[in-house]
Amino acid sequence: MKPADLGGRRVLVTAVNGEYFAFSSQCPHEATELDTGEIIGKRVRCEAHNYWFDLETGACVLPKGGPALAVLPVELRDGELCVKLEW
Ligand code: FES
Repeated sequence: MKPADLGGRRVLVTAVNGEYFAFSSQCPHEATELDTGEIIGKRVRCEAHNYWFDLETGACVLPKGGPALAVLPVELRDGELCVKLEW
């Protein structure tokens, strides 16, 4: 995971099998920084209380029904990674 400051918002960017994902650096549970967690497949795990989030939808997959992670659209344009700020 690579941190980036986008207009005062701290996001994390990661690549999984050539696909890029960007999401809030703060866990929606109790605001722990997610860069201390881990990425497995298209999911990120928060180390604080072991919540898991889907990087495509932001849904909390463990425990089910937990708070959703803010995920942001990402695309490659002429070799540059562009993140659309939507929150
Ligand atoms: S702060 Fe991330 S799971 Fe609790």
